[in-house]
Amino acid sequence: MTSGGDAPGLNAVIRAIVVKAIKHNRWQVTGILDGWKGLLKGGSTRPIALREVSGILGLGGTILKTSRTNPVKKEGGIEQARQTVKNLGLDGIIAIGGEDTQGVAFALSENGIPMVGVPKTIDNDLAGTDYCFGFDTAVNTVVEAMDRVRTTTESHKRVMVVEVMGRHAGWIALQGGISGGADAILIPERPTNIDALCALITRRHEGGKDWSIVVAAEGATLTIANGKGGEGNMVLQDSEKDEFGHVRLGGIGQVLAREIEERTGYETREVILGHVQRGGSPTAFDRYMCTRFGLHAVRLIEQGQFGRMVTFRNNQITSIPLADVAGKTKTVPPELFEEAAYFFG
Ligand code: F6P
Repeated sequence: MTSGGDAPGLNAVIRAIVVKAIKHNRWQVTGILDGWKGLLKGGSTRPIALREVSGILGLGGTILKTSRTNPVKKEGGIEQARQTVKNLGLDGIIAIGGEDTQGVAFALSENGIPMVGVPKTIDNDLAGTDYCFGFDTAVNTVVEAMDRVRTTTESHKRVMVVEVMGRHAGWIALQGGISGGADAILIPERPTNIDALCALITRRHEGGKDWSIVVAAEGATLTIANGKGGEGNMVLQDSEKDEFGHVRLGGIGQVLAREIEERTGYETREVILGHVQRGGSPTAFDRYMCTRFGLHAVRLIEQGQFGRMVTFRNNQITSIPLADVAGKTKTVPPELFEEAAYFFG
């Protein structure tokens, strides 16, 4: 089952699971469709044949489809999921997903459903694992976009704000920004003082450069210098919440571009990379990691090690209890942000 926002590499994980389970273990594999929705009443599942995963290693998206359905929030949802598992005679469920998915996997596992998790999110913010697949592809997309944006920014002597994904953690902004040569990076972990940022851009332009690129994570916040500091306000696109209680973010890029232009007088534009970061073919690194994550998930089932999520730690594929993942976020530590800051301005 794939659940939550998609990420490049989902199909590569599915392929690895199916190849190991069918070709080597002689098991049957069932696909749960549309995320957790597939396990609920009225949801759908279907058997997956080995031939179906041929050629999907490099295919973006997920052949199982996905959704942000939360069975724990639905009345009788856990019971419906348990019933589906029983009716289908499933020995275990592999939940490929991010923070929300692993939280539900933990809840279901506490309710007696045999669960194994695989860490997916382009945000790379799942606790307990150094790496979540999809992140490398997303960062490469950001860097490619920055390389393209740079030439037009230079030509027009502008400031360009590049808004990237990252709700609570600034991993994409940090790694994409460093690798793409950003002149300033804004992450959710550290509110940015707009006056200090504009002063940095002005210094840069007065010092001989006539263009700048600012990378901002969608969850970044701004503070206004009023002499006493100030509270940063998250820029919201929509106040409506999904089933996991998240508001839709996006909009910091526009606000930031307007503020920079008004305060510095330099012509400023924004580009919002949005879902482009989640689409397309996974990088070689993601294909490799996904393949290993998938194999390891099947191994956990072989060993009857349920209630765990596959992880990548200290260069090893291993696993940890879902209890150590649920409800936690891996954020950017200050020392990594400080490394990026050497290149600002
Ligand atoms: O959770 C991953 C993520 O890509 C976030 O960075 C982003 O805020 C969110 O998904 C967007 O999700 P949706 O597909 O619901 O717009």
